[in-house]
Amino acid sequence: MQSNKRPSASLIFIFGGSGDLNYRKLIPALYNLYIDEWMPEQFAIVGIGRKPFSDESYRERLLDGIKQFSRRKDEQNGKWAEFSKSVTYLQMDAEKDESYDGITNIAKQKEQEWGTHPNIIFYLAVAPQLVPDIAPKLGKIELCGDKKCTRIVVEKPFGHDLKSAHDLNTLLMSMFSEDQIYRIDHYLGKETVQNILALRFANALFEPIWNRNYIDHVQITAAETVGVEGRGGYYESAGALRDMVQNHILQIMCMVAMEAPVSFDANEIRNKKVDVLNAIRRIAPEDVHAIAVRGQYADGWMKGEKVPGYRQEESVSPTSNTETFAAVKFYIDNWRWQDVPFYVRTGKRLREKNTVISMHFRPAPNYAFPPEAADSWRPNRLTITVSPEMDIRIRFQAKRPGQTMILDPVDMIFNYDKAYENHEPEAYETLLLDVMEGNATLFMRADQVEAAWKVITPILETWETRAPVDFPNYVPNSWGPEDAEALIARDGNTWATMTAGAK
Ligand code: BG6
Repeated sequence: MQSNKRPSASLIFIFGGSGDLNYRKLIPALYNLYIDEWMPEQFAIVGIGRKPFSDESYRERLLDGIKQFSRRKDEQNGKWAEFSKSVTYLQMDAEKDESYDGITNIAKQKEQEWGTHPNIIFYLAVAPQLVPDIAPKLGKIELCGDKKCTRIVVEKPFGHDLKSAHDLNTLLMSMFSEDQIYRIDHYLGKETVQNILALRFANALFEPIWNRNYIDHVQITAAETVGVEGRGGYYESAGALRDMVQNHILQIMCMVAMEAPVSFDANEIRNKKVDVLNAIRRIAPEDVHAIAVRGQYADGWMKGEKVPGYRQEESVSPTSNTETFAAVKFYIDNWRWQDVPFYVRTGKRLREKNTVISMHFRPAPNYAFPPEAADSWRPNRLTITVSPEMDIRIRFQAKRPGQTMILDPVDMIFNYDKAYENHEPEAYETLLLDVMEGNATLFMRADQVEAAWKVITPILETWETRAPVDFPNYVPNSWGPEDAEALIARDGNTWATMTAGAK
């Protein structure tokens, strides 16, 4: 299809090669990059795991994943056969030092075969507690001394709290340089999230009004209809604040709130984002109850189907106090945003799957219009729907056609699917290509991750010491606990619910 400049030869080792992330996301992403001619001319993918697979049976399993989860679900006239020739399986016990010789041997063999030293990528798609085990063993092998070509990709969650994130950073940085470490937040690979920079900084229209003089408040919602989907074991020690707010939501907030970068250099963009995180007002423990709301879903009905409550999910304690919903009001104390509330919320088993950013402008003075004209008057609003719809809407007032002056809020809509024929790449496609190219712009730097932990630490600590008294406190197919409505209503605002066409 398209193909610009492909990355140079790359050898990708995936720890967790028999796991779910590889099956659902990584291999489908690499396969789509292959079809779109973005994969290097010379590449090899080695899945690493404990389970026994032959190369053949491994490929069969991966093809099954393609059929279920790839945006292109078939073999594409032999493309799968071509692509999968470069995929092999290495059964190994990642906890034993000597197992790592197998990796070195494969790398040497590929280097000889290709006649060039390739990029070597270690993707740690494993449970977070295994990362501190595997990374030092990798650090010992000679290949990792190559600061230019060897990279390590670490999945979220990056740490469990500020201290463990800091310890993990210290550990990784004792073996790899910061430029070799790619901390993934898949939201940053989403087209619509990347487009925030284009919208803000490639147009003269928005930036002059993108500040406290014109914006009343900002909302970010990341709502999901699913429950914990068999991930109860992980989720019990995470909760919505760690799982979504510490990373995805704060990263989106950085894109919305950052100052204009002077270049698209990875460090320049990341510096600007860290500035936002550092400017977020620190929350005193005694204020947590006023600015943060937590919730947990009860059993109930979702689109005609009976669903269990969180406490009845597999691997979840029947008395669990883990939150499956969180809403927080943040302030960013700087010249641009002083006193503009940023309301964020996220939760499972909510009414819709929807990730939406909305910028609510201050009301225009309406004194000149007759009262009946202004009945349905609404302040301007700019909405960026990140997923599953991908669009940008601007709401403004229009005169309703007719002989009287009546105003109606209407939407001007830019929709990706309507504007572009090609299907957008999935987040993991973009991010994996960036790793092969050595571009870290969309990945989190050590200080960024720690700054994000600092923001949520007071809430985490307060919630840990004060058990919730009302869990479960929301029903499936709702918008979360009532307290979340109160949180925003106290300021005279309401959550914008983005059902298509909603006002
Ligand atoms: C993951 C979380 O990072 O993001 C999941 O661990 C969540 O709990 C998922 O479901 C949501 O991602 P997306 O791309 O479907 O919005």
